[in-house]
Amino acid sequence: MLKLDLSGITGFVGEINTDAARAAEKKAAALPMSGWMRLPMQTDAELDALRAAGRRIAEHSDALVVIGAGGSSLGARAIIEALPDSLGVQDVYFAGDNLSGAYTAKLLKTLAEREFSVVVTSKSGTTTEPAVALRVFLKLLRERYGKDFDGRLFVVAGAGRSPLREFALARGCALFDIPEDVGGRYSALTAAGLLPAAARGIDIGALVRGAREQAEQSGEAALRYAAARQALYSKSFRTELFASFEPCARALGEWWKQLFGESEGKNGGGIFPASVSFTGDLHSMGQYIQEGRRDIFETIVDFKKSPGDAVIPENGEFDDGFDFLTGRGISSVNDVAREAVRAAHIAGGVPVAELSLPGLDEASLGALIYFFEYACAVSACISGIDPFDQPGVEAYKNIMLRELNNLPKTSE
Ligand code: PA5
Repeated sequence: MLKLDLSGITGFVGEINTDAARAAEKKAAALPMSGWMRLPMQTDAELDALRAAGRRIAEHSDALVVIGAGGSSLGARAIIEALPDSLGVQDVYFAGDNLSGAYTAKLLKTLAEREFSVVVTSKSGTTTEPAVALRVFLKLLRERYGKDFDGRLFVVAGAGRSPLREFALARGCALFDIPEDVGGRYSALTAAGLLPAAARGIDIGALVRGAREQAEQSGEAALRYAAARQALYSKSFRTELFASFEPCARALGEWWKQLFGESEGKNGGGIFPASVSFTGDLHSMGQYIQEGRRDIFETIVDFKKSPGDAVIPENGEFDDGFDFLTGRGISSVNDVAREAVRAAHIAGGVPVAELSLPGLDEASLGALIYFFEYACAVSACISGIDPFDQPGVEAYKNIMLRELNNLPKTSE
C-alpha cells in the first residue's frame, strides 16, 4: 500500500545499505518500551468498546474537548484533521496542550452554547497542562451536567497506577488504557488516538487494519527510510522537512515532528525535524529550502488519490493569464506543483524522499503512522539512541514547578 521512492536521495548518498538498520530493528524490538509494535493487533472487543464510547459521545454531544499534551494529543489531532468529515461529533477542540489563558477562555465561551463531552488523556496523570485543563473542564462539566457529569467524561490513562486512573476508577468514568510498554509519542493507535477518532465517526477498524497490514510486511521500506536518513545525517544533512501538499495533513506533520524530535534529539545530536505544508509554505519557506543552508532534506508524503477535488472554472471577469487552466481539477494542478517542487529541490541540493499512499483514508493513514513509528525507532537505534525515553523534557519542568509554588492567586 505504501511506496517509498529514494531515487531523489541516492544521488547524494549513493545506494542505501540496510545492514545497520536490520541490526537496529532487532535492538528496537528488544527494548522494554516497544509494545507499540504489537499495537495494531487490538482485539475486536477492544475496538468495539472504543466504538461504543465514541457513539455515546456523538449521540449526546455536538462538541468534544480532547485534553492531553504531546503524544497524548498529537496523534488524535493528526487523525481527526487528516480524514474527511464523518458522521460523529460535529466539532473537536483540543485543550491541555498549552497554558494559554486566552485560548482556554475562548474555548469556554465557545462551549457556552454547545452540548459537550470531554476525553482526558494522560499516561502519567502528572503532566501540568492537562492537569490544569482538566480542572477547568471538570468545573464546567459539574456546572452544566451535575456532579456525575451525566457520563460525559472519558478517561484514557496509563495502565499502571496513576492519579488520573485512580480518579476515573473512583468516579466510575469510562476508562481506557495506554499500555505500560507504549510511550506517548507511539500511542496514536491506542485509545489516545482511537477514542477521539471514534467519537468523530472515523472508521477505527480500518485505521488499525491499515497499520496491521503495514506491520505484517517485512518492514523493508521503513528500514530503507531509516537507513537513508542516517546516511544523509552522516553527510551533514541535519534538518528534515516533512512536506505534504494536503493542508489537512498539517497536524500529521506536527505529530511526525514530535515523534522524531523527542525520539532522536539527544546527546547533542539528532536530525532536526520540521514540517511544511505546500503549496502554501512555498510562499514562505520555499526560498530558504531552495537556496538557504544546504543541510536540509525533505520527505514528501503524497496521497495519490486526492480526498476531494474541485474543477477550475474560467475567470469570466478579466484576463489574468490563467484561463488555460479552465476545466482542470485543482488536484491535477497540485500534482504538477509537487513534481515541480521535487525536481527544483533536488536540483537545488535538497535530497527528497517520497512516500506515496493510495489515498488519504483510514487504512492509508494507519499504515503511514505505523511506518513512521517503525522507521523512527530503527533510525534512532542505528545512531545508538534510545528512541523511547525523553530525559530532556524534565529540565524546564523542574524549574517551572519550583516557580509555580510561589505564584500568587488570581481570583476568578
Ligand atoms: O511522547 C511522550 O512521552 C510525551 O510527549 C508525552 O506524551 C507527553 O509529555 C504527555 O504525557 P502524559 O501522557 O503522561 O500526560
